[in-house]
Amino acid sequence: MALFTPLKIRGLEFPNRIVISPMSQYLSVDGLANDYHFAHLSRFALGGAGLIFTEATAIEARGRRTHGDLGLWNDRQIENLKRISSFLHGQGSLSGIQLGHAGRKASERRPWHGETPVNGEDLEQRNEAPWTAIAPSSLEYAENWHVPKAMTEDDIRLLKENFRTATLRALEADFDVIEVYAAHGFLLHQFYSPVSNIRTDEYGGSFSARTRLLIEVAEIIRSVWPDDRALFFRLSACDWLDNGWQLEDTIKLARQLKTCGVDLIDCSSGGIGGLQSQQKIPLGPAFQAGLAAEVREKAEIMTMAVGLIWEAEVANKIILEEQADLVAIAREALNNPNWPLHAAAELGLDGDYSFWKPQFGWWLNKRERLFKYLGLDR
Ligand SMILES: Cc1cc2nc3c(=O)[nH]c(=O)nc-3n(C[C@H](O)[C@H](O)[C@H](O)COP(=O)(O)O)c2cc1C
Repeated sequence: MALFTPLKIRGLEFPNRIVISPMSQYLSVDGLANDYHFAHLSRFALGGAGLIFTEATAIEARGRRTHGDLGLWNDRQIENLKRISSFLHGQGSLSGIQLGHAGRKASERRPWHGETPVNGEDLEQRNEAPWTAIAPSSLEYAENWHVPKAMTEDDIRLLKENFRTATLRALEADFDVIEVYAAHGFLLHQFYSPVSNIRTDEYGGSFSARTRLLIEVAEIIRSVWPDDRALFFRLSACDWLDNGWQLEDTIKLARQLKTCGVDLIDCSSGGIGGLQSQQKIPLGPAFQAGLAAEVREKAEIMTMAVGLIWEAEVANKIILEEQADLVAIAREALNNPNWPLHAAAELGLDGDYSFWKPQFGWWLNKRERLFKYLGLDR
């Protein structure tokens, strides 16, 4: 069955096509993973996911979105991540880390504190001070947001170096996949979208100038990331803005990223902000899968579909119809960390809990027999 067909990418064997999408929890202190992150991510391995991503992990401290973001900008941050990765491996899952930089969306409050810029109130209540965000251009994300500092050549050089050292640390922590977070209006997306990049140097203006940094980041990561491990890019396949980044741009960029050793494009969309006229976002089940299908077909690169996927049949169809090679789920995994195991049963692949770890499956199967014996219909 499609969703449960193994996949090989470089030296990696994906046991199935189900990926837990990166989901920020905003519960780190100083960027460190802690027991909470261990428990949170481990649940998905016990639940049978093929690949599990950490949340967005900042490559430099000022690139955090909130004070609670995970980070990999110093060596102290390696050990706890390594423990997580090792546990995921022990349960038969692959481990992925999403490396990113928030750019002009840095210094933001956690969603439950308002998702607005950090200010004096945060300092008073939580001892969390605002900091200066950097971006391709001095353009704020939205009204009443802080104006970021336009990045200098030195900032760009440092950013690339920080991607390189974070990659080495990700290797030390034994992750199988790096996903570069270049979507949802964060720093690398701010570079390629014309909405947020009005630079006049070699990183702004034309398509090739606006995408230069992404190519350089891909090359620098590949220069230190082993050949048998995978490199994904999460892109916003379009801005849903008339004058923004379009799907055709993504296809063109995906072709170039492929030549730099990028294995797969994780196709999300939106998030750049801006005040231009907005196209109607076709929200609905698996609404971004069509983007993954087009990129896959036209750029001839593997893709991952994500967004409002929660039914096993829908996920299975995406793989079966070759719209994407992997399917990522986020909120449904929060709702049900065992989603892959239930999906296997729903698709008729597992009638006796044999996909479950025996320490769960043996008991659940026994209970099932008891239900039958007692004539209980459930
Ligand atoms: C709690 C939460 C945190 C998220 N954090 C991230 C993140 O760190 N990086 C990212 O690329 N997307 C993040 N997302 C977006 C998800 O990865 C996913 O693309 C989105 O939720 C759509 O998938 P869904 O409909 O299955 O939830 C987050 C989503 C949720 C619900």
